[in-house]
Amino acid sequence: MGSSFYPRVPDMRTSRSQGLSDGELFYIIKNGVRLTGMPAWGGEHDDADNWKLVHFIRHLPKITPQEIEEMKKMNPASAEEREDEKFLKGH
Ligand code: HEM
Repeated sequence: MGSSFYPRVPDMRTSRSQGLSDGELFYIIKNGVRLTGMPAWGGEHDDADNWKLVHFIRHLPKITPQEIEEMKKMNPASAEEREDEKFLKGH
């Protein structure tokens, strides 16, 4: 969905996003950005979870290829890619 949004979904590794303070990142995650596609997550996540997302965003500029691979394994993007599907199919 995000690929066709305007304003565009930001690349959070850039200095524009990383230049925001921790408090600004937290506020945006909790409240969203009005008149953009950025939703407010305050209703679904508690504050502790939103702070974890701030830490996650801070980690993005130095994320390793291994971490990206680990995350892909945790993302049930499609039944085809799921580890348990592989197990059930016997490979
Ligand atoms: C838990 C998931 C998400 C987190 C932690 C998150 C966090 C953020 C943060 C911190 C910003 C501000 C960064 C910046 O302005 O450079 C931002 C902006 C934005 N996000 Fe998200 N976001 C999430 C999910 C989404 C989703 C699902 C969409 C839409 C499909 C979205 C669309 C946008 C857009 C369009 C902006 C730019 C708003 C503007 O130009 O002011 N975000 N997001």
